[in-house]
Amino acid sequence: MIAGFIGTGSMGSILIEAFIQSGALDPKQIIASNRTPDKVDQLAKLYPGLERAQSNIDVVSKSDLIFLCIKPGEYKKVIDEIQLALLPSQIVVSITSVVAISQLEQLLPAKISKVIPSITNYVLSGAALCMYGSRIDNDDQVLLEHLLAHISSPIRIAEENTRICSDLSSCGPAFFSFLIQCFIDAAVKETGIPYAEARLLASEMILGTGKLLTTGGFTPVALQQRVSVPGGVTAEGISVLQSELQGVFNRVVQATHTKYKEDLDKSEISLGFKV
Ligand SMILES: NC(=O)c1ccc[n+]([C@@H]2O[C@H](COP(=O)([O-])OP(=O)(O)OC[C@H]3O[C@@H](n4cnc5c(N)ncnc54)[C@H](OP(=O)(O)O)[C@@H]3O)[C@@H](O)[C@H]2O)c1
Repeated sequence: MIAGFIGTGSMGSILIEAFIQSGALDPKQIIASNRTPDKVDQLAKLYPGLERAQSNIDVVSKSDLIFLCIKPGEYKKVIDEIQLALLPSQIVVSITSVVAISQLEQLLPAKISKVIPSITNYVLSGAALCMYGSRIDNDDQVLLEHLLAHISSPIRIAEENTRICSDLSSCGPAFFSFLIQCFIDAAVKETGIPYAEARLLASEMILGTGKLLTTGGFTPVALQQRVSVPGGVTAEGISVLQSELQGVFNRVVQATHTKYKEDLDKSEISLGFKV
């Protein structure tokens, strides 16, 4: 199988590197293009055998599976370029939340899927959110999820839940890194502990917490109850969090959804589905 990548920016290169590092794909099975060719040249240098495509059409003509790793505003240009070169047997994987599967099915003759990766896939961890169009059959889904399973936990979601699932899975690492950063900064400011030591401890803590909540058999509530005994030190900290964080994540979700609606409108206009 040959996997093609159009766009090797942040997410495109993370996916390529994760697929290679995990052994899911040999560099010889990858062909990639990018508007600024330097980015592909660097990947080709790093992973001998990876083919630097001459154009986006070159990617399409040589691939079974084509990952579109471009931003919403760039879809119109790329779609116009590749639509005549695509075959019904090829699978297109869009990683962009605002572009609907139904829109891609109208614009491209291929089998369409939407997969929202996460930066956590770079360390072969976290989820990949999977959604499928009407032309994708069960074998295609198995093939794609088998590939994604090398770098993530592929999880099927309903397309109408794309935003909230992406908030949890793809924005989550940024949200929780921000909280960790606040925790570290406060530890340093309040106690004078060296920054590097606080960072190491907080990072190890978040890794262990993730394991407890995934393979360790704990729910978030059970984990809090286990650590926070009544009248103890942790309970004092939890009580501050309970009063100070009231409604914070509601406002976070409201903010991401407001921005998403704006981006949806822009994307629908740029693809010609709205005036
Ligand atoms: N970042 C995340 O954590 C994340 C997670 C899940 C999904 N996503 C989605 O992934 C998509 C890409 O995001 P990103 O963060 O990877 O953006 P990015 O770093 O800006 O990468 C986009 C790449 O597309 C290239 N490009 C633009 N127009 C092109 C064209 N006509 N032909 C070929 N390549 C073209 C750009 O080339 P240049 O080098 O010339 O700019 C750039 O390298 C977005 O839709 C985003 O919503 C991102």
